[in-house]
Amino acid sequence: MMRVVILISGRGSNMASLLAATASGALPVEIVGVVANRADAQGLATATACGVSTRIVDHRLYAEREAFDAVLAATIDDFAPDLVVLAGFMRILGDSFVRRYAGRLLNIHPSLLPAFPGLHTHRRALAEGVRIHGCTVHFVTPDLDHGPVIVQAAVPVLDGDDEAALAARVLVREHQIFPLAVRWFAEGRLHLNDGRVTLDAPQDGSGVLIAPPVVGG
Ligand code: GRF
Repeated sequence: MMRVVILISGRGSNMASLLAATASGALPVEIVGVVANRADAQGLATATACGVSTRIVDHRLYAEREAFDAVLAATIDDFAPDLVVLAGFMRILGDSFVRRYAGRLLNIHPSLLPAFPGLHTHRRALAEGVRIHGCTVHFVTPDLDHGPVIVQAAVPVLDGDDEAALAARVLVREHQIFPLAVRWFAEGRLHLNDGRVTLDAPQDGSGVLIAPPVVGG
């Protein structure tokens, strides 16, 4: 089975959705390690409770980004992963780190990229008055929140939404599309061509693409 390492910074609900998908058999990968850049990341306890090895690489101990990235990479490589997944990992990673894992580094971002890269996406979506918002799983490139899109899910922005309500609606979809994207990767169905992603049909003979979720309530 494909070996996956997950990087987190906090709550870890996306990590938990990936762990739940592996436990149910919906996601045929082995999550071999979880690495956090903060010792107080809540998700560490969740990972431990699921029997997954955890490591902490505290970014505050490193004056230079390159030094942090190097220790992070060494920590990840100890797990010999096939795929590295950023699940609410809130540190910007340097070019050489990103290149090291090129084509096997995925991120989830809480907006419909290329709209709203960076922080406070839900607040900014409300301030702009957009009627559709959502989330994106993409391959990571050195450009922050700009890598090739694998799958997106959209949700409506409803009258009366505040940041928390909109974030909660998006998070439900994050928990659906992240395991889906990782499964596609594990099945070898994702291909990168000229900065775009294509998805092969499933191998079960049905010949039918699984339609990505588009709009949800
Ligand atoms: C998610 O909305 C993720 O998309 C963003 O940060 C949040 C992390 O949540 N990058 P969690 O730690 O997965 O619960």
